[in-house]
Amino acid sequence: DWTNENIIDDQVERIRAQVGEARVISALSGGVDSAVSTALVHKAIGDQLTAVFVDHGLLRKGEREQVEKDYVESTGVRLITVDAADTFLGHLEGVTDPEAKRKIIGREFIRAFEQVQRDLVEEAKASGGAPVKFLVQGTLYPDVVESGGGAGTANIKSHHNVGGLPDDLDFELVEPLRALFKDEVRAIGRELGLPEAIVGRQPFPGPGLGIRIVGEVTRERLEILREADAIAREELTAAGLDAQIWQCPVVLLADVRSVGVQGDGRTYGHPIVLRPVSSEDAMTADWTRIPYDTLSAISNRITNEVDEINRVVLDVTSKPPGTIEWE
Ligand code: XMP
Repeated sequence: DWTNENIIDDQVERIRAQVGEARVISALSGGVDSAVSTALVHKAIGDQLTAVFVDHGLLRKGEREQVEKDYVESTGVRLITVDAADTFLGHLEGVTDPEAKRKIIGREFIRAFEQVQRDLVEEAKASGGAPVKFLVQGTLYPDVVESGGGAGTANIKSHHNVGGLPDDLDFELVEPLRALFKDEVRAIGRELGLPEAIVGRQPFPGPGLGIRIVGEVTRERLEILREADAIAREELTAAGLDAQIWQCPVVLLADVRSVGVQGDGRTYGHPIVLRPVSSEDAMTADWTRIPYDTLSAISNRITNEVDEINRVVLDVTSKPPGTIEWE
């Protein structure tokens, strides 16, 4: 009979046996799986582990602070944050095609992470310390099953996840969540004392807000979307709807403008789309029937508080035929 405590103790022993004295690197994405796998490895080997967080400038409001402050406080993990927003936004300049955006973001992510890996490897060599030999991955049981062949899923969109392996560096993987399902991972995260905002987080795509701006990604547009997204999330949480909603992308139609009126003046702003969906596994989804009062509260707040937005629209498409994200 496996309690969460049992699972943690067992994994701690396995991790110690696997890595010995070597040093270990982990990529934190802000998501549940990487947060819990990193915390488990930290519990096992402490400062032999270095966690790396790449801020690509496409994060939601508060996410970086959540990792740098709340997560670090609750775990004591040694964290390196890579400030890569300028690089990412530079490469995204003028790019509007969704697949092109995904490829650029995926590629730059791996580049940023590899750079830190190389630095740490060099540093260990120079100081004569234990070599950096392992990489933590938050692989879950369903990921193992999915990649084990069988009826492969069609590649509708190129997904990217954190922690791609550089080919010229020789790393072994540490995957302490390989036998677990998502709800078990969350339970273990809570047992380890991680912040609820991380453990209970809904899915968020690796390319972040970069694929929630229809059109070119710019700093100004990110700022607008970040504000609108924060308001929507706040109101959905306040209405007690988090458990009912799989996730609710907020999408900025940056190249669309419509006429509105505010006070005595005409406005010419952008629409924002709310895309609340209910789902079991993200393969299929239905649009969530959010109460009108909540929709109304979100719409009022966004149009009042975010100057550039003068219209809020609701996406009422199931998946299929719509995907959950707009890009
Ligand atoms: P779609 O839009 O394909 O999304 O219906 C299904 C689920 O996958 C998430 N998603 C991603 N996750 N990297 C990720 O890690 C990605 O590139 C990516 N694209 C979509 C999406 O948020 C939804 O939960």
